[in-house]
Amino acid sequence: MTNTATNDEWQARKEAAVARGQGNVSPIYVDHALNAELWDVEGNRYIDFGAGIAVVNTGHCHPKVKAAVAAQLDKFSHTCVMVTPYDVSVRLAEKLNHLMPGETPKKSLFVTTGAEAVENCVKIARAFTGRHGVVAFNGGFHGRTMLAMAMTGKITPYKNLFGPFPGEVYHAPFPIAYHGITVKDALAGLDTLFKVDIAPRDVAAIVIEPVQGEGGFYPAPVEFQQRLRELCDEHGIVYVADEIQTGFGRTGKFFCSEYAGIEPDLMTAAKGIAGGFPIATVTGKAEIMDAPLPGGLGGTYGGSPLGCAAALAVLEVMEEEGLVARANEIGERIVSRIRALQEQYPQVIGEIRSAGAMIAMELVKGGDANRPDPDLTKAMVQAAARRGLILLSCGVRGNVIRFLPALTIPTELVDEGMDLVAKSLAELV
Ligand SMILES: Cc1ncc(COP(=O)(O)O)c(C=O)c1O
Repeated sequence: MTNTATNDEWQARKEAAVARGQGNVSPIYVDHALNAELWDVEGNRYIDFGAGIAVVNTGHCHPKVKAAVAAQLDKFSHTCVMVTPYDVSVRLAEKLNHLMPGETPKKSLFVTTGAEAVENCVKIARAFTGRHGVVAFNGGFHGRTMLAMAMTGKITPYKNLFGPFPGEVYHAPFPIAYHGITVKDALAGLDTLFKVDIAPRDVAAIVIEPVQGEGGFYPAPVEFQQRLRELCDEHGIVYVADEIQTGFGRTGKFFCSEYAGIEPDLMTAAKGIAGGFPIATVTGKAEIMDAPLPGGLGGTYGGSPLGCAAALAVLEVMEEEGLVARANEIGERIVSRIRALQEQYPQVIGEIRSAGAMIAMELVKGGDANRPDPDLTKAMVQAAARRGLILLSCGVRGNVIRFLPALTIPTELVDEGMDLVAKSLAELV
């Protein structure tokens, strides 16, 4: 069937047919995509610096991922891993157990989305510790389901209108030097939480993103992660690293927690794991993972054979194409271009942050960290789209542009995309 409608026509139909809560960044209706480029229904071409929010790390339609999924589809698409399982899920679990940092024996669990992976970490930690409390961080993002949303530390748009939230979820300060919150401040905040709201002996899990994603690409300093690890050991709390956005090579290590040299107890993965096929996982210390009773975890679609086959192919591609190292090269190239822009617009680009190919620039007014510029941020995303570049924003203050290209993006496309960033900024500032 030929698609003759325009982007605007599809957007009008979408607004009439789809709940407004499921908003979209741009009214660009994708016709097809390849590696780090996509084309809309009107034939316009875009460079993709979003990768479906850090999902297609191996690029759109990688031939090896496509072939693996097609081969699996020829055999079967679903039997339910909890009824009659299959080899690809076992193979993927073995690989993940091997890849997760630390020497302790590991086990894995398959679910379908990131939020579900986070919620399962809480279930597992509660079953293991017999405790109820969950500590997450201001500005953190863990998903849109009830418990994950309660754990998310950002009201708009995620928590507006949706309360009351599940109980026993607490938030502690997250250290952000740029906003004047030191590691010492954050640890003091946690200490206060333990004194006034919940005793550490009642805490089942502390859940942290090694780099806050939706919150604004703020990295958790290494010493903070290490101190949290010590606190968890001291008090018998399960340390959960939410690596849904930071995982699978994105930050220049396979998992970002590796930078801190720590072994989390449980770790989530989703997004980059399977080239766009919906699968999410929890991997963790076997003793903790085995606390829930058989049948207490899982779901109809958890560990879909198509997702597992895609994830195994993604892992092969990552190794063959050296994509973890490539994340660092891409990051360095983009950061050097943003630095040049910062020299040109020092009042506008307040801070540049990066971990591999997870890169951000924070936009402010008058060079002041306390005067965020969400309007300029929104305008940048739109101006870039008009010029043929998909950009994403994020941040508790809505003033961060994030750069998340596929790790397979050719250098010429990185440069072409950054030229469009420069032109968009010049148009607006
Ligand atoms: C760190 C983190 N945790 C959890 C989630 C939720 O994942 P999903 O949208 O697949 O439920 C996200 C999604 O952006 C995320 O970045």
